Amino acid sequence: MAKLIVTTREGAEQEFEGADGVSVMEVIRDNGVDELLALCGGCCSCATCHVYVDPAFADQLPAMSEDENDLLDSSEHRNETSRLSCQLPFSAAVDGLRVTIAPED
Ligand code: FES
Repeated sequence: MAKLIVTTREGAEQEFEGADGVSVMEVIRDNGVDELLALCGGCCSCATCHVYVDPAFADQLPAMSEDENDLLDSSEHRNETSRLSCQLPFSAAVDGLRVTIAPED
């Protein structure tokens, strides 16, 4: 299985394995990182799954939808690497992906 490297808000780095076809949010949530609230369960309607993506992987992820872009605009912590992790498919194609959980809004 592919690896996902997650930095928490406190700066701790954790490495998880994720199956093909789940979202980055699901890998993080299912490994018990409860600071990623993911309140809407992945419906792209809450923005509580906000992460910063390592720019080295930006080209390997799908483009942002208008809905994702609008939701990220509601965050005070948006930057140029911001994504909603429920909108990022995880697979072997992004093995070693690094994300950092954004501060809570
Ligand atoms: S889990 Fe709600 S937008 Fe991602």
